[in-house]
Amino acid sequence: MDSCKTLLVTGGAGFIGGNFARYMLETHADMAIVNFDALTYAGNLESLADLENNPRYAFVKGSVADKAAVERLFAEHRFDAVAHFAAETHVDRSLTDAELFIETNALGTQRLLDAARAHGVKRHVQISTDEVYGSLGPQGEFTEASPIQPNNPYAASKAAADFLVRAAFKTHKLETVITRCSNNFGPFQFPEKLIPLMIANALEDKPLPVYGDGLHVRDWLYVLDHCSAIDAVLHKGKPGEIYNIGGHKDVPNIEVVRTLLGILGKPESLIRHVQDRPGHDRRYAMDSTKIRQELGWEPAHNFEDALRRTVEWYLDNRAWQERARSGAYQDYYKTMYEERLVNAS
Ligand code: NAD
Ligand code: TYD
Repeated sequence: MDSCKTLLVTGGAGFIGGNFARYMLETHADMAIVNFDALTYAGNLESLADLENNPRYAFVKGSVADKAAVERLFAEHRFDAVAHFAAETHVDRSLTDAELFIETNALGTQRLLDAARAHGVKRHVQISTDEVYGSLGPQGEFTEASPIQPNNPYAASKAAADFLVRAAFKTHKLETVITRCSNNFGPFQFPEKLIPLMIANALEDKPLPVYGDGLHVRDWLYVLDHCSAIDAVLHKGKPGEIYNIGGHKDVPNIEVVRTLLGILGKPESLIRHVQDRPGHDRRYAMDSTKIRQELGWEPAHNFEDALRRTVEWYLDNRAWQERARSGAYQDYYKTMYEERLVNAS
């Protein structure tokens, strides 16, 4: 699209959406951003405190699954484009409450597509995930042509959303683009995901729960590289297309955990192999040739340096981390992790 003056970012109080909102305001001096977020357990406005007084930034609280709230949002603002991040994002949680994932991830996406169409929004960028492709064997990488074979309710709800986006493009000619990115890490990630969880536990000398044999492989990308990729897709991506985004950094979980312990100077005796996640995808790896060749995107950060910097950020922001790990999270942590630890011993 030629120019995007006002961008709706959904889920901007979460990990990637918040980093993206800040990145876009810094990168595009003429862009205004409205952040629409329901502030679930994963949403935290404290992560965006530095944007509060920015005249080009506004926050609106609401759920993408709430039809009236979405209609009000689009009636009150004129958006050039939508970058849709808002989602329930944790695979483990989707194993016990799939319905919420369908409501937010699938129905919520349809609500946004309907509103975009009704209000003549020029472009909808759907932030999807490599998990829609399912699991790889020991060789190969996912391309944009790989079959959609999700293995858990989170991945299935994201795949459903991708199909709804495709349908909006095909049937209604709404200008849509889908990005499918690998695992992100960086500042402000909720400490239920592998890297921030392991950092938080190690700092408290608590056991680090590694699922199964720990040889599951994820393709890690620093969050700001994901942000620059979405920026490229927003401005230059071809309507109706899908773009894979990956870091070409395929690492077994156990190696990520050992590296973190090394950076923190903590002993490997903290590692505890626990009961595996049901339906646990063995390996993800992304072929991102298309976005590199067609849109000229390249990641700017190297894994080891970015990981070290991420650990430093968590060390400098322990209050943020401790608040994220308080309240309702405590109950969740008890059921998900402590039971697993008990079963392991
Ligand atoms: P997150 O869990 O950190 O944040 C999600 C945000 O969405 C939160 O602020 C939450 O309050 C908000 N939200 C949840 N339900 C909502 C609703 N009904 N209405 C409005 N807001 C709602 O997630 P994240 O890791 O930042 O992921 C953002 C997006 O990127 C998701 O769509 C996810 O599928 C995708 N993605 C994530 C990764 C990753 O490694 N984290 C990788 C690829 C793709
Ligand atoms: P996670 O951060 O939940 O992301 P995703 O499931 O979307 O890839 O998990 C990353 C990998 O780490 C995944 O293979 C599951 C594993 N894992 C653990 O071994 N222990 C943990 O406590 C967590 C949260 C994840």
